[in-house]
Amino acid sequence: MSSDKPITNNNETRRSFCKTAIAAGAGAAAVALPIYGGARMVLYPLQQEGLSGKEYQLTTIDNLDSTPRSYAVVDTIRDAWVSAPNQTIGNVFLRKVTNEDGSVGVEAFQSVCPHAGCRVKVDQQKNPKTGEVETMFYCPCHGDMFSLTGQRIDPDTCKSARDLDSLEARVDEAGRVFVKFQNFQLGCADKSPV
Ligand code: FES
Repeated sequence: MSSDKPITNNNETRRSFCKTAIAAGAGAAAVALPIYGGARMVLYPLQQEGLSGKEYQLTTIDNLDSTPRSYAVVDTIRDAWVSAPNQTIGNVFLRKVTNEDGSVGVEAFQSVCPHAGCRVKVDQQKNPKTGEVETMFYCPCHGDMFSLTGQRIDPDTCKSARDLDSLEARVDEAGRVFVKFQNFQLGCADKSPV
């Protein structure tokens, strides 16, 4: 006996469902992969293309004096899917110093506060130990203070468990200033490169 009801083709229904699922999956991947790539660039920019520890020429010694001055570190950030030129990957404070042998040298510090990653600035603040207003590195987030040579002014009350992170720097014979740029793990006493 034949029926008037339309025949439901289960294979066709399953095929249609699979096509839809594959298309949806491909669409999600197309969106997710660039986002993943972008997120990695933001979170771990120095891990791309060996930027961590790379040396940059930032200025010449003639532009520096004993008060730290901030310089942006700019490079091209590349990932598997993205290449972004002229990106600021960090900021460095530089100041001119006199070496023990009397020659001119340079001192470099990361601008990132070792406590929780805010950007420190050079500011006039009241030194809690001396009561004097001094030029120092100051973190606006939780008030940590560092001397111009990077030491915590009061380690007992400082939120940061370590001094400001110094960076390797040198001046060549032409007076050009080079810095090895590096990020470090936050919130711990050890200065561990990341
Ligand atoms: S982030 Fe600088 S004191 Fe907390």
